[in-house]
Amino acid sequence: MVRAAEKAARTLVRDFGEVEQLQVSKKGPADFVSSADLAAEKAIRTELAKARPDFGWLMEESGKGGAANARSRWIVDPLDGTTNFLHGVPHWSISIAAETDGAIVAGIVYDPIKNELFWAERGQGAFVNSKRLRVSGRRSLDVALIATGMPYKGRTSGPHYLAELDLVMAEVAGVRRFGSAALDLAYVAAGRYDAFWEYGLSPWDSAAGVLLVTEAGGFVSEVGGGNNPIYGSSILAANGDLGRPLREILRKASGKGPGASTAPKAVSG
Ligand code: IPD
Ligand code: CA
Ligand code: CA
Repeated sequence: MVRAAEKAARTLVRDFGEVEQLQVSKKGPADFVSSADLAAEKAIRTELAKARPDFGWLMEESGKGGAANARSRWIVDPLDGTTNFLHGVPHWSISIAAETDGAIVAGIVYDPIKNELFWAERGQGAFVNSKRLRVSGRRSLDVALIATGMPYKGRTSGPHYLAELDLVMAEVAGVRRFGSAALDLAYVAAGRYDAFWEYGLSPWDSAAGVLLVTEAGGFVSEVGGGNNPIYGSSILAANGDLGRPLREILRKASGKGPGASTAPKAVSG
């Protein structure tokens, strides 16, 4: 997994250098970036197939594949944070997870620009490079830094997202939207963010990051408390203490629970 991530990183870092030049070109770098994305996924798939030829795969660009009865598969996002990459913003990652019998057993989120390799194996803990990861110890929302993913053109969010954001902003020390969900989860595992929530992610955005958070002592669920954050419609990741209070605020925004919010409805793509 590390070899595959490093191989893809070499081509992406080279292409990222090009993208900065392409910002001024008439056509812009969109096609260039999508070919960078595809090239990275091809490099990853070739490397992983060499190591585990019997694994299936679920990859953002090439979809589902491999033997239908395979017990294990790779879940891969070769470039998470495409819009950042496209605009020359140095905050994007490569996410690779291994899933066996429906459970994530290993995960990598690699940020080659900052040279941070976040990794975890089930039951073995979570690390960034060689340093052990632990979620933060903050116990109160008023000192918490919360990450999220906001809707954007063509990408809707939960029906009450703006109301949720309105209520959360009033309670916390800060909200951040950095543009790579895989890194948002890695930062919760590293204790940099105290919690994260988003709607409408795909399994390849979150599979590796969910294992990082749980192996770093954090908790992950769907926003409403459901137990399917990777394949469900929403995700909430938090340290040991702030998941419940954050979920309560989000419930208020949806009109459930005491003190329901009157903020405007969320944008829809
Ligand atoms: C996106 C990023 C972003 C999240 C979007 C994802 P992509 O992945 O993870 O942070 O808000 O929902 O689609 O498209 O750059 O691989
Ligand atoms: Ca993604
Ligand atoms: Ca992607």
